[in-house]
Amino acid sequence: MSPACSDRRGLTAEAAHATVGGMTELTQENWRRVDAYFTDTLVGHDEALEHAVAEQQAAGLPAIEVAPVAGKLLHLLARISGARRVLEIGTLGGYSTIWLARGIPADGLVTTVEAEPVNAAVARASIDRAGLGDKVEIRIGRGEDVLPTLAGPFDLVFIDADKESNALYLDWAARLGRPGTVVVVDNAGRAGEVADPGESSPQLDGVRRGLEVLGTDPRFDATALQTLDRKGWDGVAIAVLTDVVEGFDDAVEP
Ligand code: DHB
Ligand code: MG
Repeated sequence: MSPACSDRRGLTAEAAHATVGGMTELTQENWRRVDAYFTDTLVGHDEALEHAVAEQQAAGLPAIEVAPVAGKLLHLLARISGARRVLEIGTLGGYSTIWLARGIPADGLVTTVEAEPVNAAVARASIDRAGLGDKVEIRIGRGEDVLPTLAGPFDLVFIDADKESNALYLDWAARLGRPGTVVVVDNAGRAGEVADPGESSPQLDGVRRGLEVLGTDPRFDATALQTLDRKGWDGVAIAVLTDVVEGFDDAVEP
């Protein structure tokens, strides 16, 4: 690589170190370095988001919020799609909720569904503190109970809750969306286990059933990308709702 090329890419001395020998090997140290580089270069620091993570940790919630690069992806997808109404299934401590709420206009609304009241309380405080209280409604209850009470259409749906229910949540995403609605599913790769026929668990099988829905149900057109970020090796599935969602109820009703 020429020095000019290196300069243009803005590699820091630390990042350049990973390419010594002209080849970057996929070691944990190296991919973590790349994630840190992307995060530092493109995402940066944000007090409200970092406070939300700290509050989540202090409350004893699991540290399974999306990575900063993935939060920024959700934010960009909301903006790129011009979303005004967002449905999030799985609020946790509100980290991804804040990213999404910042990606919609002032009169937009994120409806986020959370089964655990303690999680919802932590999220509510962090969302309000971020100045986004008017843009987020939290619906407390299990997805299977809350989703039938919601009215669409939503412009973007983010599914990041109990993996066992991914197929059910995708069905609700299709019912509550419209042609063109963006659907994002977290945790599509699960450290490679999704493609390992020797691995099985209720969560993993739920992830697989969700991906099968995305691949076979005509209401979706989808892909998935592997991710290597702060949370390790996983993946994200991204879909759009097709024209089939219009009239789908007619098609299944007798
Ligand atoms: C788990 C759930 C998630 O949504 C995630 O992003 C990572 C891990 C889990 O339940 O282990
Ligand atoms: Mg997740």
